[in-house]
Amino acid sequence: MQERPKHEFGGPWTEIKLDAISEYLDFYQNALKNKGFETWYVDAFAGTGERHAKVTKGGIFDAAPIEEVEEVLAGSAKRALAILPPFSHYWFSEQRPTRVAALEALRSEASTDIVVRRGDANEQLRLLFSNPPWTDHPSSWKQRAVVFLDPYGMSVGFDTLKMLAETQRADVWYLFPRKAVIQQLANKGSGIDEDKRASLTRIFGCEDWVDRFYEAQPAQTDLFGGRVTFESIRRADGNEIAEFARERFGGIFAYVSDPIPLLINGRDFFELYCFSNNPPAISLIKRGVDHVVRKYTPASHRRSGP
Ligand SMILES: C[S@@+](CC[C@H](N)C(=O)[O-])C[C@H]1O[C@@H](n2cnc3c(N)ncnc32)[C@H](O)[C@@H]1O
Repeated sequence: MQERPKHEFGGPWTEIKLDAISEYLDFYQNALKNKGFETWYVDAFAGTGERHAKVTKGGIFDAAPIEEVEEVLAGSAKRALAILPPFSHYWFSEQRPTRVAALEALRSEASTDIVVRRGDANEQLRLLFSNPPWTDHPSSWKQRAVVFLDPYGMSVGFDTLKMLAETQRADVWYLFPRKAVIQQLANKGSGIDEDKRASLTRIFGCEDWVDRFYEAQPAQTDLFGGRVTFESIRRADGNEIAEFARERFGGIFAYVSDPIPLLINGRDFFELYCFSNNPPAISLIKRGVDHVVRKYTPASHRRSGP
């Protein structure tokens, strides 16, 4: 048998993220069971299904020397496959071919319906939700999904979130890359190159961020107090930038949860959100999400890294 590729990523915050998602999936599957829906777990940045992590073991309480060991932990796909009752369908997409092969191996070992797609998550999600059974199918009405968007960085286009909102049947957990976004925003507007501008516009789905975050300030006057030159200077801090993102999400989803902050070394790196645009289901969804957010927000402050 071919060896599975190693996928090393994350830290203590990763386990918090995956615990939060797993707990919500458990809630979701139990809340929707026997209601006649076909449920989908859609993991668009699925990785290999596993996570190789360095863990510190031993110490005075274990009466063993402290050492760093590598452990293989379940990633989001494997954790979702362990949820009971199971989802009717599992759908994984991934860009890296070796990771796609690992997901295909997972599929061959499982007895449930698993679809594996190779390619860009944004494109693959669009294909999934614009085809039967999600559209043009007698059972379209009974399809329900939880979509997990777990990119490393700024890979999720706002258009993708909008498309998911428009289905009204896909609830979305999104790891918003707060730190990566703030890092693109140089102190002077002139410090943002075209590529950065384009990726910020793509993640926010508009260009309004320029006026919201930057202000023209006088830079120089000439010796006679005459002509003034202006420079565009960033006035928005990290919280205002995150608040703008939240407003944008609220423009397309009827429900936007409070985010679970995911910290690395005490600093905000990611924010884990849940969105829904299925008004009749929101009070139910909110009950599950509020519980998860309340439970994992303090944990994320306690276990922030390194
Ligand atoms: C943080 S990891 C996901 C980990 C996974 N959710 C887990 O818990 O095991 C992000 C994954 O997304 C993949 N990826 C990055 N950009 C992508 C894109 N545009 N479309 C699909 N997959 C992408 C990477 O190869 C990587 O495996």
